[in-house]
Formats: sequence, structure tokens, C-alpha cells
Amino acid sequence: MTSNVVSAAYIVSAVFFVLSLAGLSKHESAKEGNAYGVTGMVIALGATVWLTLSRSEHALATLLLIALAMAIGAAIGLWRARKVEMTQMPELVAMLHSFVGLAAVLVGFNSHLTVGDASDTIHSVEVFLGVFIGAVTLTGSVVAFLKLSARIASTPLMLPARHWLNLAALVVSALLMVWFVQSHSVVPLLLMTVIALAFGWHLVASIGGGDMPVVVSMLNSYSGWAAAAAGFMLGNDLLIVTGALVGASGAILSWIMCRAMNRSFVSVIAGGFGQEVALGDDKDYGEHREITAEGAADLLRDASSVIITPGYGMAVAQAQYPVAELTKRLRDRGVDVRFGIHPVAGRLPGHMNVLLAEAKVPYDIVLEMDEVNDDFPSTDVVLVIGANDTVNPAAAEDPTSPIAGMPVLQVWNARDVVVFKRSMATGYAGVQNPLFFRENSQMLFGDAKQRVDDILTAL
Ligand code: TAP
Repeated sequence: MTSNVVSAAYIVSAVFFVLSLAGLSKHESAKEGNAYGVTGMVIALGATVWLTLSRSEHALATLLLIALAMAIGAAIGLWRARKVEMTQMPELVAMLHSFVGLAAVLVGFNSHLTVGDASDTIHSVEVFLGVFIGAVTLTGSVVAFLKLSARIASTPLMLPARHWLNLAALVVSALLMVWFVQSHSVVPLLLMTVIALAFGWHLVASIGGGDMPVVVSMLNSYSGWAAAAAGFMLGNDLLIVTGALVGASGAILSWIMCRAMNRSFVSVIAGGFGQEVALGDDKDYGEHREITAEGAADLLRDASSVIITPGYGMAVAQAQYPVAELTKRLRDRGVDVRFGIHPVAGRLPGHMNVLLAEAKVPYDIVLEMDEVNDDFPSTDVVLVIGANDTVNPAAAEDPTSPIAGMPVLQVWNARDVVVFKRSMATGYAGVQNPLFFRENSQMLFGDAKQRVDDILTAL
């Protein structure tokens, strides 16, 4: 009886999760999407706790243990969620993925040590694959976290023969699986875990800065498959369904982002992009020109069309509010103002859209890269606010650039370009930007929020 009710509850939760994904795919329905997700999760948790208690011989002790674990987890979760800045979101997500990986590894070992049926080949394969995917997700996510939070350099680690190393790790793991299935010994499982941990670390360490967005969504996908594997090991249908939903949606997102960056999915995963990262780049780009806030205000006063291309720096400076105010003022004067959003601007998908929506910039003037790219030649002034890699002409013009082939906002085709940033430093991918040295570009140095405020004052 209990298990029937729980199965029914699981189906209801699964439907809520599907509705949640559907809702989250659009601005307008994202709030409902979140609410569906929370509802599904509450039902799933309630049903699982009930199932566990009904099977336990020491229901009270089990309940207390679950309550204790949930209280600690919820306290840490609430504390982090309240403290985290929008700009730190991707690294938080990467860290959360590592927990899913760790859970799959622990569930795998627990399942192997407690379910003692050596003749169950399918279960052995489930355990082995679950631990493998979990271990790769664990260390891969930890490296992604370290790179995104700038605790380690975002440049790719380039070991000699790295593709062969990866291949060897896969082949040896496959052989260990045969040994594991036949012997049911914990030794091959342990050996594979060590290899998988190193494999996950190497896989992400060898991926360069510019390709990190794809890595984050790829790890998201892996964490889904790790959860699904844990579901198989525990015989929990909802975990299988939920894991598959996360795994598939992460894979689709990775594919969409690869397309947006003109990368092949396989080559991103295999790593090694950005190897020529121009750290000691001593190429002579010429002189850059500077402009003051008053000068920029003069340009805007005379303009009839303006495109704003925001990037990560707008998020750091929290400049979206004065930018929204500037947009309003210019529009009130009859200037045609639009936003051009690069698919990987900022540090997570939709980052810029969320900030602009927060500052109440109307949706209909916030356009995607493909929608504005042809309009730059007929635009008077482009304001590049804290964006760098996403407006780098080298991606389109220099085949030797580490970001060659990545579609970018072609801001340099406009009449005048004003670049808001604090220094001549490179962006996330670590490559110099020839845009800053173009004849129609001028640098407006300083914190983006302060500079936009200065322009508002000057106007
Ligand atoms: P970036 O290339 O990272 O450039 C941001 C620029 O903002 C920097 O050059 C920085 O220059 C400037 N900046 C920082 N703080 C500022 C402040 N307070 N005021 C003014 N300027 C400030 O950003 P982007 O153009 O948005 O490109 C995104 C990059 O991140 C891409 O390489 C992308 O692949 C990567 N990435 C994206 C994602 C997703 S999913 N969107 C996830 C991970 C990584 P200064 O230091 O000189 O001020």
C-alpha cells in the first residue's frame, strides 16, 4: 500500500518537474516554473521520507537522523543562497554539481558493500558506471568551481599526449569493469574511482577560459546522469526520471551554447582550446584613445541610434540601474536605443537578461546577437559596458586567435564605440582585444556604474 502511494506521488512529482522545466524556458513563465519545481521537490521529499520510515525498524531514530541531516543541509543552503552575489552564481552551481557527483560515489560504494549479491551482473554494472560518472562529475566540478572563482588560472592545462591519457583512462576503466563484474571485489572499484577522479580533473583542467560556459552546462548534464545512476542503484524511479531530465536538458543546453560559440561539442569536451592564450602577447596593437564622461554624453546627445552591449563588467559594477535610467532618458529624447546580448555574455546563460529585467528595461528592446549584428553599420554610437570577449573582432578576423570562430557582436562596424572598463586588462578568455585600438573606439575608464552616473549628470 505504502509503496503504491509513494509511486503515485513520484509520478506527480515527475510531472511537476517537467512543468518546471517548461516554465523556466521563458522569462514570462520562469516564476511559475520555479514554483512547480519547489512543489515537485516537496512532494518527492515527503514521499521518500515516508517510504524510508515505513521500511525502517527504528523509525524514530531514522526520522531524527533525516531531520538532523536536512536541518544542517537547509541551514548551509539558506546561508549560501542569501549571501551569494549574482556574479558568483556559476561557481555556486559548479560546486553544487560536485555534491551530486560525491553523492553518486557514496551511494555506489554503499550499494556495493551492503547489497551482497555477487551474481547480479546488472547491479554491478550500475554500481560501476554510477561511481565512474559520479567521480568524474565530482572533480570536474571542483576544477570548474576553482576556475570560475579565479582561485586557479582559467588557462587550459596542456599535458603532452592529453588525448591519449584520456583514452587510456577510459580503456583501463572498461577493463576494470570486467574485473569488477567477475570478481565482485572492491579493489577494481577503488582503482577505477581513483582513475575517474583524475580523469574528471584533467578533462576540465584542459579546457580554456572561453569554453567554460559549455563546461558548466556539460557538468550540469553529468550531474543529472550521476543522479540517474544513483536512482538505478537505489531502485528509485523518481531519481532516475529526475536525473534523466537534468542530464538531457543539460546536454541540450550545452549543444545550444556550442552552436552559439561555433564550437563542436566533442572538441570542447576533449579540451585544449585557448592553448595559444596570449598571456605574454607582445603584439603591437597601436595606441588606444580615451574619452571622458562629458565627451561620451556629447556623442550621445548627437546620436539618433544607440546600441548597448553589456557584459560581465556591468554585473560586477551593478550598473544595470543607471544603464536603465540612461536608456529611458535617451528614449525620451527620441533616440532609438537597443541592447545587443551575446549568448555567453556574463558568467551564466541569461545573465544579462536577468539584470536588465531586474532594472525594468523593456523586453522588446533587448535583442539577441543575431538580431542586431546587421544593424551596427547603421548605428551612431555603441556603448560596450563591461564586455570584452563577446565584442572581440579577433574572433572574426584572426584565425590564430584562441577564440577564432566564436560569433561576436560586431560593434566595430558602428560609427563610434565607447568601451567602459577599468583598465586595458583582458577579459575572461585572457586574450587581448584589438577593438580597443580601432580608430572609431574610445575607452571610458573607471567603474561602469560610476561612469554611467557621470554621463547622466552631464546629460
Ligand atoms: P569578459 O570578457 O569577462 O569581460 C568583462 C570585462 O568587464 C573585463 O574586461 C573587465 O575589464 C570589465 N569589468 C570588470 N569589472 C568592471 C567594472 N566594475 N566596471 C567596468 N568594467 C568592468 O566578459 P564578457 O564580454 O561578458 O564575456 C563573457 C566571457 O565569460 C566569455 O569569455 C565567456 O565565454 C565567459 N563565460 C561565460 C559564461 C556564460 S554561460 N555566459 C560562463 C563562464 C564564462 P577591467 O578589468 O579592465 O575593468
